[in-house]
Parts: sequence; structure tokens; C-alpha cells
Amino acid sequence: MSVIFPKWTNHLPTIVAAGATVAGLVVVSVVWFFFSPKNTDVGYAPDQPVNYSHKLHAGLMGMDCRYCHTAVEDGPHANVPSSEVCMNCHKGVRTDSTEIQKIAAAHESGDPIRWAKVHLLPDYAYFSHQAHVNANVGCASCHGRMDQMEVVRQVEPLSMGWCLECHRNPETHLRPEGVAATDMQWTADEASIAAARQRLANKEVQPPEHCSACHR
Ligand code: HEC
Ligand code: HEC
Ligand code: HEC
Ligand code: HEC
Ligand code: HEC
Repeated sequence: MSVIFPKWTNHLPTIVAAGATVAGLVVVSVVWFFFSPKNTDVGYAPDQPVNYSHKLHAGLMGMDCRYCHTAVEDGPHANVPSSEVCMNCHKGVRTDSTEIQKIAAAHESGDPIRWAKVHLLPDYAYFSHQAHVNANVGCASCHGRMDQMEVVRQVEPLSMGWCLECHRNPETHLRPEGVAATDMQWTADEASIAAARQRLANKEVQPPEHCSACHR
């Protein structure tokens, strides 16, 4: 008997079950990896309560992003400015405009303007602006040409594959010293790529690929 059914076959059901589970996991991962929408939310540009234009303020007027997004270097979240910041200028500029009157009314009542959120990661993914901006990855790498946008639009998928693509090959996104992260015109060249490779080789910048870096 034991010749026909050697002892290890007692474990066969367990082995088969385990095999099926592994195969199932593989199928799930493959489906998840290849079919997860790469372009989720790309192009998302919700209506805003006030027709504020980045093209006018950050583009034509050349205002630095950090005039309004003051927290972008100091913590995980970039803030959206309060109406106070707008009123620095608009208590005097274009007070005849109905759009500006909305801001003035919000300012007076103390109720914040309810801007619609454009970029949003799920809670289980950790992201920090501070680490990226301090490594001198430009806003444009992730948000595109904000200085040309009349209405804010999401231009990158913000998917896990997108994060990892840059973490594996960040060379063209790492700006040399002296170029601001907020500069919208900068593009990589041979010298900047060589300098970036040097920083990576020296481990001055180390984009993580292990799961717990982003899923804490
Ligand atoms: C005068 C103030 C001001 C300046 C300067 C400014 N922004 Fe903004 N930004 C805002 C306001 C107000 C909002 C929210 C309303 C909106 O989305 O249009 C916003 C929204 C954003 C958002 C979308 C936030 C979300 O909900 O996901 C991004 C990204 C952004 N700004 C990036 C930039 C970049 C990059 C620059 C520099 C090129 C810049 N901003 C300059 C005021 C400013
Ligand atoms: C540094 C000064 C400055 C700041 C700060 C500023 N603006 Fe402006 N804004 C201007 C100027 C200048 C214009 C163009 C006025 C014109 O049309 O000649 C303008 C135009 C506008 C207009 C168009 C008005 C219309 O009806 O044509 C809106 C809306 C506006 N700003 C919203 C905002 C909001 C919202 C904020 C705060 C997040 C803000 N601005 C911060 C200077 C500023
Ligand atoms: C490496 C990619 C990356 C870079 C570089 C980057 N951002 Fe973002 N930004 C994101 C992501 C991802 C979100 C959504 C974060 C979330 O939902 O937690 C976001 C959200 C924002 C928001 C909405 C508020 C918030 O934090 O959720 C603002 C405003 C913003 N970014 C401005 C900027 C500015 C200004 C710069 C440059 C100084 C910049 N970002 C650089 C990826 C980036
Ligand atoms: C355009 C390139 C680029 C993109 C896109 C990018 N990163 Fe990064 N990330 C970097 C670089 C470069 C570093 C290394 C910073 C350092 O070592 O100083 C980094 C570091 C990090 C770190 C470690 C630092 C910390 O805050 O703990 C985390 C976490 C992280 N990234 C999460 C994300 C997530 C989540 C996304 C996608 C939503 C993302 N990154 C997209 C370039 C990028
Ligand atoms: C650089 C940051 C980063 C790293 C490293 C990372 N992830 Fe993610 N992961 C994300 C982001 C961002 C999302 C959310 C993507 C979205 O909203 O489409 C995500 C989503 C997921 C999801 C949910 C997928 C879905 O479709 O709902 C799973 C599961 C996951 N990650 C597992 C992992 C595992 C396992 C590892 C390690 C092998 C890992 N992640 C490493 C950033 C990261």
C-alpha cells in the first residue's frame, strides 16, 4: 500500500490547496498590476468656487508657488492659501470683479473658501512634499506646467506604478543646486543627469522601493 500511496501523499490536499492559493495570488497580482488603470483621474479638473487662475498669477505675473503654498517644503502637505493671502493684493486690486467680491466676502465672514481638492491619494499611501522638494524634484515633475493652467488639472496618474517609475529612474527629475523646485521652465540636460547620477551613487538621495516606505 505504502508503495502506491507513499507517505507524503497524506499532505497532498494541503499542498494542492497551498498551490491553488499561490496561483490565485499570482493571478490577482498579475491582473492588479497590468490592468490597474494607469491613467486614473488624469485630466480631472473640478469646477472651483472662485475662478482663480494659476496662468495669470504664477505664469504672467510670475508669482512664486511658495508665496501661496507656504508649507510645501516643511511637511507632508502643501497648503492651499487662505483668503487672507489673496486679500494682500485684492483689498485694492479689481474690487469691482464679482470673483474678487466672493473672496472679500469669505474674508470678512471668516468662512474659508471651499476649494475642490484636485490631487488625492488614498489614505493607505504615504506621501510627503517635504522629502521631494528638499531633494529638488520640481513641482512640474508631478503637477505639470501649472503656470499655463487657467484651471488646475491633474496631469499624472499618481498610481503606484507612476511613483515607482520615478523612484527607479529619478535622474531626469533631480535638479541641480541653484535651480528652484518651483521653476516651471527647467528641463534636464546631460550635465544635470550626470550630477543626479553622482548624487544617487553617493546615496545623497535614496528613493525607496520597499513597501513600508509608502504603506506605513
Ligand atoms: C496666488 C496664490 C497661488 C500661487 C502663486 C500658486 N498657487 Fe497653486 N493654488 C492656489 C489656490 C487658491 C489653489 C486652490 C484652487 C485651485 O485649485 O485652483 C491652488 C491649487 C494648486 C494645486 C492643486 C491642489 C489640489 O487640490 O490638488 C496645485 C498642484 C498647485 N496649486 C500648485 C502650484 C504651483 C506648482 C505653483 C507655482 C508654479 C502655484 N500653485 C502657485 C493658489 C496659488
Ligand atoms: C501679488 C498680488 C496678488 C495676489 C496675492 C493675488 N492676486 Fe489675484 N490678481 C492680481 C492681479 C494684478 C490681477 C489682474 C487684475 C487685472 O485684471 O488687471 C488679479 C486677478 C485675479 C482674478 C481675476 C478677476 C477678474 O474678474 O478678472 C481673480 C479671480 C483672482 N485674481 C483671484 C485671486 C485669488 C483667489 C488669490 C488668492 C489665492 C489671489 N488672486 C491672489 C494680483 C494678486
Ligand atoms: C513627487 C511628486 C510631487 C512633487 C514634486 C510635488 N507634488 Fe504636490 N502633490 C503630489 C501628490 C501625490 C499630491 C496629493 C497628496 C495627497 O493626496 O496626500 C499633491 C498635492 C498637492 C497640493 C494639494 C495639497 C496637498 O498636499 O494634498 C498642492 C497645493 C501641491 N501638491 C503643490 C505642490 C507644489 C507647489 C510643489 C512644488 C514646490 C509640489 N506640489 C511638488 C505630488 C507632488
Ligand atoms: C518625479 C520623481 C518622483 C515621483 C513621481 C515620486 N517620487 Fe517619491 N521620491 C523621489 C526621490 C528622488 C526621493 C528621494 C528623496 C531623498 O532621498 O532625499 C523620493 C523619496 C520618497 C519617499 C521617502 C521619503 C519620505 O518622505 O519618507 C517616499 C515615502 C516617497 N518618495 C513616496 C512617493 C509616493 C507615494 C509617490 C507617488 C504618489 C512618489 N514618491 C512619487 C522621487 C519621486
Ligand atoms: C513609492 C511608493 C510606493 C511603494 C514603494 C509601494 N507602493 Fe503600493 N501603492 C502606492 C500608491 C501611491 C498606491 C495608490 C495607487 C492609486 O491610488 O492608484 C498604492 C497602492 C497599493 C495597493 C492597492 C492597489 C489597488 O488597486 O487598490 C496595494 C495592494 C499595494 N500598493 C501594495 C504594495 C506592495 C506589496 C508594495 C511592495 C512590493 C508596495 N505597494 C510598494 C505607493 C507605493
